[in-house]
Amino acid sequence: MRIATVSERPDLTERAYELTYDTLREYNQHGDVLNRYWGRLTEELPEFQFHLLDDREEILARARALPVRWDGSIDDLPEGIDGAIARGFDEGDANVLCALLVQIPKDLQSRGLSHVAVEGMLELARRHGLTALIAPVRPSWKEYYPLVPIERYAGWRRADGLLFDPWMRVHERLGAAVLKPEPRSLRITGTVAEWEEWTGMTYPESGDYWFRGGLATVAIDRDGNRGSYWEPNVWMRHGTA
Ligand SMILES: CC(C)(COP(=O)(O)OP(=O)(O)OC[C@H]1O[C@@H](n2cnc3c(N)ncnc32)[C@H](O)[C@@H]1OP(=O)(O)O)[C@@H](O)C(=O)NCCC(=O)NCCS
Repeated sequence: MRIATVSERPDLTERAYELTYDTLREYNQHGDVLNRYWGRLTEELPEFQFHLLDDREEILARARALPVRWDGSIDDLPEGIDGAIARGFDEGDANVLCALLVQIPKDLQSRGLSHVAVEGMLELARRHGLTALIAPVRPSWKEYYPLVPIERYAGWRRADGLLFDPWMRVHERLGAAVLKPEPRSLRITGTVAEWEEWTGMTYPESGDYWFRGGLATVAIDRDGNRGSYWEPNVWMRHGTA
């Protein structure tokens, strides 16, 4: 296995997108802030975007990250993934790499490939002299506990002492520490009709609704014709020394 950055192999970008699109639910593709910046990752920072390939050049993972400035304190962490991508593009003096996304094609999941993708990010951080890898981790199993506050969920551990959430655990096994839960990381808003289409649900009246795959509830305002959702994440930090 090896990583190929988008600067080295721009030809893989479209295929990787198609192969992994269905790993995230439709609602997750509509970030208010994230989508404003997302296209610039491959255009302006192709050396930090990569795909994991096997010996036959098959795509095993799609990974996105960007360098950001961070002084190492909890207070100075970006405001979630939205804050991180904005800081990465709008401010200079980047000193750490911020993970944004790892996707494993559905038919290749549960084979331990995700840790290789995170190791790829660590390798890129080192290559560019960045002193840490920080990640607003999207906890995979939070979707089964949408009513539990992220502040509680982020602290859950199994009987063996490791973190409860499988994706957070991948980071932990690679040496990362939990820095802080981020209840408002990724902002997604749309009309009620859009939310109904994205989630395959009907929202007959205003209120907070659970929906399939959501890590928290969506607030539906029928009078204002608005659905508003904040995806929670958990900040974790890997050293690169
Ligand atoms: C999150 C994601 C990258 C994880 O990759 P993966 O290939 O499915 O996971 P891995 O095989 O590397 O396993 C990671 C951990 O989850 C556990 N796991 C994986 N599949 C599991 C399953 N079906 N049931 C229970 N545990 C499972 C593994 O045991 C492992 O934990 P362990 O090392 O403590 O045993 C992948 O599921 C994905 O692409 N999801 C969609 C996109 C996404 O949400 N990405 C994260 C946000 S950036």
